[in-house]
Amino acid sequence: MTHFPVEKIRLDFPILEEKIRNKPLVYLDNAASCQKPNAVIDTISHVYRHDYANVHRGVHTLSVRSTDKFESAREKIRAFINADSTKEIIITKGTTESINLVAQTYGKANLKPGDEILITAMEHHSNIVPWQMLCEQTGAILKVAPINQQGELIVTEFEKLLGDKTRLVAVVHMSNALGTINPVKNIIDLAHSRSIPVLLDGAQAIPHMAVDVQALDCDFYAFSGHKLYGPSGVGILYGKRALLEAMPPYQGGGDMIRKVTFEETEYNSLPYKFEAGTPSIADVIGLGAAIDYLNDIGMDAIAAYEAELLDYATEKARQIKGLRIIGEAAEKGAILSFVLDRIHPHDIGTMLDSLGVAIRAGHHCAMPVMDFYEVPATARASFAMYNTQQEIDVLMNGIESLIEVFG
Ligand code: ALA
Repeated sequence: MTHFPVEKIRLDFPILEEKIRNKPLVYLDNAASCQKPNAVIDTISHVYRHDYANVHRGVHTLSVRSTDKFESAREKIRAFINADSTKEIIITKGTTESINLVAQTYGKANLKPGDEILITAMEHHSNIVPWQMLCEQTGAILKVAPINQQGELIVTEFEKLLGDKTRLVAVVHMSNALGTINPVKNIIDLAHSRSIPVLLDGAQAIPHMAVDVQALDCDFYAFSGHKLYGPSGVGILYGKRALLEAMPPYQGGGDMIRKVTFEETEYNSLPYKFEAGTPSIADVIGLGAAIDYLNDIGMDAIAAYEAELLDYATEKARQIKGLRIIGEAAEKGAILSFVLDRIHPHDIGTMLDSLGVAIRAGHHCAMPVMDFYEVPATARASFAMYNTQQEIDVLMNGIESLIEVFG
């Protein structure tokens, strides 16, 4: 293994000291939500103890202080994904809200009956249902590009589905159910050569790799704070400025206006036009702290370490008779989905919990993926930068003992 300061990093995450059922916690449910370092916990606590007031509204000291911290977090987020301007960084509740925002503003304004939206067969429900709702509202049609048995997008089929009527492509950057990392640059180039904008669902990709929205040239990029070692309830929509300028607002309310009379309302400028109501102030500042923390470690170092963890886990899993890995894409992030002969994933999850091991068992909000593999659910171990090979050994030993007793 290359040197990565995992033991030092683990000390920054107090929850990792918890005992679950008298066993040391082995937390492998990071794709659902990952744990928070002291830097984030302390920052949020500090905001509430010393800096808290509403933002963008007051002239008093606390409001100014809290606004400064909030906007400085927005700048950290901008730099983290290399957006051109903070005007392109919209604060939302999470990836789901970010995608719904695009569907209900860009989508409603630009789609008419017969127009097409192209997604892939490996999408999370949050990158399916908002488009289905939009199709119901506009008469547009949802097209789905197929995947192969490895869980990879069949790019030639994807390209065939890009047609004169395609108005938007919406693709997951890294699949939560399979771990597949999509060839997003290629996808974007193919779509742009036909002047079709591309939204990337970055919920899973963002904690595992450096993301540069300008290098990718994506039109929208959606992600959540809680999978990025930050708080839940806060997420980001990146959008190219020209697109965001042209889009109607999402929700109406305070902060998104410049002037209101009963006759008409003038909307605020970017990014505030899309940020009606009081945001989750301390959590946004906490997300900024998570980004500082990640920058200190380095996203490339994290990606390299997690690739080694995934290789190690995959190698071990392949040696277990009766275990089938679901999703074996050549380009894959730190997710290991699997099923066991004769043991339901929910039972795997429950029995591993008795050993202190937290994994997710279920359809992972990606029911069409389960249908494709003809399984009701999978068990999924998802790794973060604080996981270790020893923890993977605990998982694999647990699986082997399960098979011995129940398989
Ligand atoms: N989307 C999250 C997951 O994959 C909740 O578990």
